[in-house]
Amino acid sequence: MKPLNIFLATAPGFEDMLEAEARDLGLTGASAVAGGVTFAGHWPAIWRANYYLRGATRVLVQIGKFRVFHLDELERLAMEFPWDTTFKPDSEIGLDFTTKSSKVNNISAISQRLAKALRATVGVSVDEKAPVTLRVRIDNNVCMLSVDTSGDPLHIRGHKQFVGKAPMRESLAALMLRKCGYDGSELVVDPMCGSGTFPIEAAEIARNLAPGRSRDFAFQHLATFQPDRFAAIKEDRPARDTDLHFYGSDRDAGGVKGAGENAARAGVDDIITFAHHAISDLQRPAGKPGLVMVNPPYGGRIGNKKQLFALYGALGKTLRGGFSGWRVGLVTSESGLAKVTELPWQKNRLTFPHGGMRVTLSQTGPLP
Ligand SMILES: C[S@@+](CC[C@H](N)C(=O)[O-])C[C@H]1O[C@@H](n2cnc3c(N)ncnc32)[C@H](O)[C@@H]1O
Repeated sequence: MKPLNIFLATAPGFEDMLEAEARDLGLTGASAVAGGVTFAGHWPAIWRANYYLRGATRVLVQIGKFRVFHLDELERLAMEFPWDTTFKPDSEIGLDFTTKSSKVNNISAISQRLAKALRATVGVSVDEKAPVTLRVRIDNNVCMLSVDTSGDPLHIRGHKQFVGKAPMRESLAALMLRKCGYDGSELVVDPMCGSGTFPIEAAEIARNLAPGRSRDFAFQHLATFQPDRFAAIKEDRPARDTDLHFYGSDRDAGGVKGAGENAARAGVDDIITFAHHAISDLQRPAGKPGLVMVNPPYGGRIGNKKQLFALYGALGKTLRGGFSGWRVGLVTSESGLAKVTELPWQKNRLTFPHGGMRVTLSQTGPLP
């Protein structure tokens, strides 16, 4: 069988990091493109990618591509299409459309014709709440059919039921940890941890816990799914013990409690200590220097500025005073805020869109 074209979607700006992760996972030929990573492979590679990749948000597979200029032609091609190689008879799927610079561009007519063909050929009915979505993109008169094999976005691991005020997505947190050189072999401290995303991801990486271990995926509903082979894939990267410990603290008591509950659901609460205190009371943990990863409050109204500058000043003072030898990764929206910490930022800052603003990840080398 010919390999399939597979697309791993990720946060813009982090494509290179995901490419490195995909290659580490053995997805050969993985190559970064705008918005994600592409590679060619078979269904088991799709199951592996969904189950093990920490930085992907979705895994899409292309199941068809043809030129189309008229609705009748679309219907004829859809009637001839081998849907049964992908979809189970009598199942339900959702449809998602985009069209650009094409003669066939009436979404409701496209939807009607495709739904008719799916029903007539394989008995599939269209239901927006179905676990599987067929994505139809018609661009320059070329129709591309892909299936979203993930279902819920992959940052939803199934453990973070408590979410703080501005939670970081797990996939983004994992990519930022990787960008800061974290590979599961050093301590990680987050002194403004909110719902605990950084310490929990770091602890899971240290333990080699698969991010998909507690959730289901859309591919399990497809005709191509082989439960035995997927069960074997789940076994081939076993969890390991670690002597490392991880630390999260926050001045918000509710956040600290919720982060602890998230860690317990993820099965890493025994290697993370969450504490309730402000940044100025942060103590350096015993042991070799590691990584401080922090995402303080940022942006917002002008009135907040003075407070924010004081907060970033306190963060810088604490880290400069007590964390010699540690590296720091800081996520914030304004370079001015990073500057007031007086930490020795490297030049290779990474700026990316996040939650409607431009956000920057700044890093230091080991602090003097
Ligand atoms: C953007 S949120 C962090 C979100 C977190 N990364 C997550 O995934 O949930 C910023 C956090 O900083 C905390 N914070 C604000 N001022 C603080 C201070 N002076 N000391 C400690 N934590 C503080 C807030 O309570 C909030 O939880």
